[in-house]
Amino acid sequence: MMTWKTLMSPDSASPLMEQLTFLHDHALMILLMITVLVGYLMASLFFNQFNYRYLLEGQTIEMIWTILPAVILIFIALPSLRLLYMLDEVNNPLVTVKTIGHQWYWSYEYTDFFNIEFDSYMIPSNEIEDYHFRLLDVDNRIAVPYNSQIRMIVTAADVLHSWTIPTIGVKIDAAPGRLNQISFLLNRTGIFFGQCSEICGANHSFMPIVMESISPSYFISWIYDMSEV
Ligand code: CUA
Repeated sequence: MMTWKTLMSPDSASPLMEQLTFLHDHALMILLMITVLVGYLMASLFFNQFNYRYLLEGQTIEMIWTILPAVILIFIALPSLRLLYMLDEVNNPLVTVKTIGHQWYWSYEYTDFFNIEFDSYMIPSNEIEDYHFRLLDVDNRIAVPYNSQIRMIVTAADVLHSWTIPTIGVKIDAAPGRLNQISFLLNRTGIFFGQCSEICGANHSFMPIVMESISPSYFISWIYDMSEV
């Protein structure tokens, strides 16, 4: 989860988040090289006169500093495009979960398992226990099996919301009148926290998301517990 001093990406819990981290690091390295180069050039200006009477044009350097930035941009754009298409890929999901954004809570539906439906509200600050994270825990968490492809269907009932969990690299808008789809795979167990990230009204900050990544067999028992069959 995101905590204090998590200055860069959180530890990933899915291959997609891992790829996002790689792209971030790649772009940051290029940024660092540009910063060092420009910093060196600017610093060297202080130690030069640069008043050469016969220098009126420089075709070679103009060519270099026109084409080089374009090439650098391509080196960022192509991996970025590759990741963009990877994020949209839906490979044979085993579990489909539907989530609906409301003002101001999330509700979830497991339509392929006994039509389980429930709401997920934030635990108010005056009701939190020692094991809760303030403003981040909810009364009803969603559970999904790990090492299984999950499909998330996202929509909203009133205004725009955004279903976002940084650790798994998912951030998808919940729009009224529209069904959005995202697919992800959790490669480890754990509890993953997220928040709405579309400014949706007065209590926008208070509709967090908590997802439990559990083993498939525990998931089956959880489904049976929820369905009361
Ligand atoms: Cu829902 Cu912000």
